[in-house]
Amino acid sequence: MTIRIRELVIDPPLLLAPMAGLTHSALRRLILRLGGVGLLSTEMLSAIRVPQENPRLSPFLFRREEERPLSYQLLLSRLADAAPAVAALHGFGADAIDLNLGCPAPAIRRLGAGSRLMENPGLLRELVAKVRKLTSLPLTAKIRLGENLSETALKNLCLMLAGEGIDLITVHARLRGESFSRKPRWSWIAKVKSWVKVPVVANGGIFSSADAARCLEASGADGLMLGRGAVIRPWLFAEIARNIYRWDLALPEVRPAEVYQEFAELLVDSFLPERRLGRLKEFTHYFARNYPFGHRLTSLVQSCGSLEQGLERAQLFFARNEAGEERGAAGADQ
Ligand SMILES: Cc1cc2nc3c(=O)[nH]c(=O)nc-3n(C[C@H](O)[C@H](O)[C@H](O)COP(=O)(O)O)c2cc1C
Repeated sequence: MTIRIRELVIDPPLLLAPMAGLTHSALRRLILRLGGVGLLSTEMLSAIRVPQENPRLSPFLFRREEERPLSYQLLLSRLADAAPAVAALHGFGADAIDLNLGCPAPAIRRLGAGSRLMENPGLLRELVAKVRKLTSLPLTAKIRLGENLSETALKNLCLMLAGEGIDLITVHARLRGESFSRKPRWSWIAKVKSWVKVPVVANGGIFSSADAARCLEASGADGLMLGRGAVIRPWLFAEIARNIYRWDLALPEVRPAEVYQEFAELLVDSFLPERRLGRLKEFTHYFARNYPFGHRLTSLVQSCGSLEQGLERAQLFFARNEAGEERGAAGADQ
């Protein structure tokens, strides 16, 4: 069970979701070391800014060679921005380009990008056609279900995307206005799958192998994209690769304290000192969910002034946990 789009083989068909502030070099390398990921991603990148950024210094673009295959996600809203942005991504050695068509954030919508584009089919078609002409790399699109539940609107959108040469569609199974606390509508991904021939990847609400199995059952998707679940449990790819895709993969021996330490070391390797702590805090907000009393870990790290202090406090929290002074870490998903 693999996905092939052009020259790219996604094996296993497990993709890391683009997540602003979270999907950066440190998280990607942590996940790679734990195993089981088929395609890595950047966070969303402004097509206007990308051509001007220095890839060795930009925290959004920095990467190590080992981070492969790596898809770059573009936020695009103007035809004129397409050529310089795509040329820059070629220069960075992108293995695929993803178009962000689902971001509901008001600041992004005001720029005419993200989910706003799904409401402007004429411009969207032109943008997709333009990018398609500019690259022979795999070109993918990440969508939400739309403004409201409309099979016609969603079908028209997906047929248009496939017709203009999009190689794979990832569906985050929520409407534009729905929050992450709402259950994703995986059965709507099955509808998309029945309309298009290109591979369809399911996204939203996968936090365990059991979720992955249920999502595949409901959606019939060709692959899965993991977002928050990959931050809470960076070893989730390895678990799903083994449990669902029957990969002959030794499950990593996971000690959350060591995973956290390794992440902090990767932050130091990836970012200038002033950029590290914010990213440690973002990560901790999710990683803390491994613990019944994780909110304590979050507030300990939130209130600290340096990465070193954050790490020290976190290690104290982990040691107290292991000693049974706090309730233990959540069990591994078998
Ligand atoms: C903090 C955060 C940042 C995100 N940033 C992006 C982004 O840059 N581009 C994008 O397409 N989706 C973004 N998303 C949405 C995720 O890619 C994904 O669709 C969503 O979290 C649902 O998947 P999950 O339930 O596995 O987390 C973001 C989500 C979160 C939580």
